[in-house]
Amino acid sequence: MGPEFIIGGCMKNFSKILICMVLVLLIGILNGAEKPKNDKMIGVILPFSSAFAGIANEQKEAIELVMQNYPDYDVIFKDSKSDAAGAVVAFQELLALENPPFAVISCASWVATALHPLAAEADIFHMVIASANFSRTVPRHTVRFTLDASQEERQLANYLNKFQRIAIYNMNNSYGNGWKKTIETNFKDKIVKAIAYNPQHKDFKNDLLEIKNVKPDALVMLSAGNGALIAKQARQLGITAQFVGTRPIERPELLVEAEFTNGLVFTYPTYDVNHPMITLFAKTYETAPTIFGVEAYASIKSLIIASNQGNLSTSDLFDWYAGKTFTGALGEIYFDETGDAHYPYMYKEISDGEFITAPFQFEMLLNDAKQEIEKTFKQTDQNEQQSTEELPDPSFFEKIISRKVTNFPIEMWIMKKDGTIIYDDNKSEIGLNIFSNEIYAAYPSLVKVARTMSSANNGNGEYTFLDVKMKENVTKEIIWATIVLHDIEYRLALTHIKNNI
Ligand code: COI
Repeated sequence: MGPEFIIGGCMKNFSKILICMVLVLLIGILNGAEKPKNDKMIGVILPFSSAFAGIANEQKEAIELVMQNYPDYDVIFKDSKSDAAGAVVAFQELLALENPPFAVISCASWVATALHPLAAEADIFHMVIASANFSRTVPRHTVRFTLDASQEERQLANYLNKFQRIAIYNMNNSYGNGWKKTIETNFKDKIVKAIAYNPQHKDFKNDLLEIKNVKPDALVMLSAGNGALIAKQARQLGITAQFVGTRPIERPELLVEAEFTNGLVFTYPTYDVNHPMITLFAKTYETAPTIFGVEAYASIKSLIIASNQGNLSTSDLFDWYAGKTFTGALGEIYFDETGDAHYPYMYKEISDGEFITAPFQFEMLLNDAKQEIEKTFKQTDQNEQQSTEELPDPSFFEKIISRKVTNFPIEMWIMKKDGTIIYDDNKSEIGLNIFSNEIYAAYPSLVKVARTMSSANNGNGEYTFLDVKMKENVTKEIIWATIVLHDIEYRLALTHIKNNI
């Protein structure tokens, strides 16, 4: 082999490498990875022309409220239409810009899952709103502001337990189908019918007749935007089942059709109802925001704060969120290491044409906790032969109660009739006596309630004390019940901050 050959070989390899490099560059440019990003532009992809137009418009309005205060930023809105394919086209249009946005916010589960790998490939930071069913394939790239459906479902299940014949009517998309599967898994024997519907349709009567024929006692509607229409048609056909829903069902139309929707119970996120955004939105648009607007507001506001602090790359932005707690319009929210947000949920209800915090939930959680504590205590008691004198260990209560309070904006505590706290979600209070410890002397309304609790085995009231972090004085509403362990009575209390949810 002569030297020319070697050089020739090198030249050949060199041109191959060159061609490869040009190709990689071209692909990069085509998908936007190599284009310099516009670090003052945010892309927002919402389902404007779809059955979810009302949701998209509300999100846009909330975003515009934020942007009034940040004139140096541009938001470019794109229409994802009704499906993932529409969202991909919208995203490609953003990528085709000379300087694509440094971050993209997208709405809906089916859109989140479709755009997530594309945004990762183009190295554009991705924020996901209104997306309870979402699969990640690329780590450290996307943050999600919506609680995952699997967690919301744990709460819904508490309520669904009491029904025997459950029918499901779900949107035929990843949100509706994902939820349906979860409920079917948990309530296998109780599902009497499950039908998926096209959310672009307006006439649901044929499906609803099939549902009527199986005589359900609960009808779970996994709906957004057309919940009011479905409820109306269902009642007009004579379906008498309890209506049950999830987060996206809350839309203003439900109240217009209150004659048919009154009594609907649904799981819903808590948020800071006293945040200035709520009044500002209502004043500007003459209607109260729903969680869709609140989430959109919270997400873009936090993004701008993060980028104004110099975080512009995907990894810096991701790190800004992951593992941290933020306070904003959504209240206090925690982002786990995968980038998913966590915050409490509760039950809401339509009552007399209004959305209210469902009153039954506090009683239900208290009684669930009471029964589980008594049952578990009896079981462990048989196993371990505890002596009658022995007080149950706080960790025994914690194991049961922490599962009950998780994700609900409530606290629980347990008191001996002499005022000694034997369990409190705030561990620093365990062992203190409400009647004699000096920290309680400054809170006479609490001491008064505790006196009533000593003598009455159940009841309700309100008092002022410190919040769970022992920082600020808050007024709390309380209900209590009695648990009997080894023939000794203890008072189990459930509290929540008044007017906060
Ligand atoms: C979700 O996918 O979680 C949503 O709330 C989407 C909404 C447009 C119905």
